[in-house]
Amino acid sequence: MPFNRKDLLGLEDLDKKEIQTIIDSVKPFKSLFTRSIKKAPALIGKTVVNLFYEPSTRTRTSFEIAAKRLSADVVNIATATSSVVKGESLIDTGKTLEAMKADIIIIRHSLAGTPEILAKNLNASIINAGDGFHEHPTQGLLDLYTIYEKKKKIEGLKILLVGDILHSRVAKSNIWALTKMGAKLRVVGPPTLIPKNITDLGVEIFYDLDKAIKGVDVVNILRIQMERQQENLFPSVHEYVELYQVTSERLANAKPDVLIMHPGPMNRGIEISSSVADSPSAVINEQVTNGIAVRMAVLYLLAAARIKQGKKHVNSN
Ligand code: CP
Repeated sequence: MPFNRKDLLGLEDLDKKEIQTIIDSVKPFKSLFTRSIKKAPALIGKTVVNLFYEPSTRTRTSFEIAAKRLSADVVNIATATSSVVKGESLIDTGKTLEAMKADIIIIRHSLAGTPEILAKNLNASIINAGDGFHEHPTQGLLDLYTIYEKKKKIEGLKILLVGDILHSRVAKSNIWALTKMGAKLRVVGPPTLIPKNITDLGVEIFYDLDKAIKGVDVVNILRIQMERQQENLFPSVHEYVELYQVTSERLANAKPDVLIMHPGPMNRGIEISSSVADSPSAVINEQVTNGIAVRMAVLYLLAAARIKQGKKHVNSN
């Protein structure tokens, strides 16, 4: 099944076959990781730019390693020391990078929709590395791949997302991808942090973690955004820990082979206990490793689509 996209802006836009194509493309890239030379020549001569307007450890580094393993030239723009601070607009920054012959621009921004604006104004391929509360598609794909690798299927699995669903772009991308692939999604958290219309996507809402966790195959724990504490969206950190921290005791009600996931960065002792984070059921570090292979697959598929389309894309998201 061909992947014929100019950009990767979100998983809402992709259909089941396109998601499956990405997942099916990951394994050969992952198999490179155990070789002494971990590189492939797929993106030789291509320029990949990381344009991050928000902090990142995992995603930025992971894209850089992924692009380098595909032999691309990689440039990291530190927006704090770029002409962005002199008032240059996003589109002008993008056009400047394109004038330098950037082929793929990876953008993270606090405003939802920013990657789409760049995609509409540039010929370069745009990858959304997280935009506001909207989407974080490569995180959704790496979570999906990690579940698929461990459970050998997605269809019919009971998957629980715990925490701040409202503000989480990771939750949105997980929900779009996993529901399309046939998983049964549950969310749990304080009522103020769960959008009610999420049931329209076939997601079941819970407010009681002990009920929500019963019989699930996967628990994906979201970071509590401590910066939201001022907005009074949850009572107090102490109460959050009491009601929603994923602990070994609570996990006893999940399936015995439950997978524990967290996109990072983790607040140990708040949304996840240390014993859970370090337990044999946790695949948090494997998510990070898989993130590189998934991003290699995404970079490869977008670059291949550019070649096929002669850089004249009609199927822009
Ligand atoms: N999971 C994730 O997006 O982490 P970073 O913010 O470190 O990139």
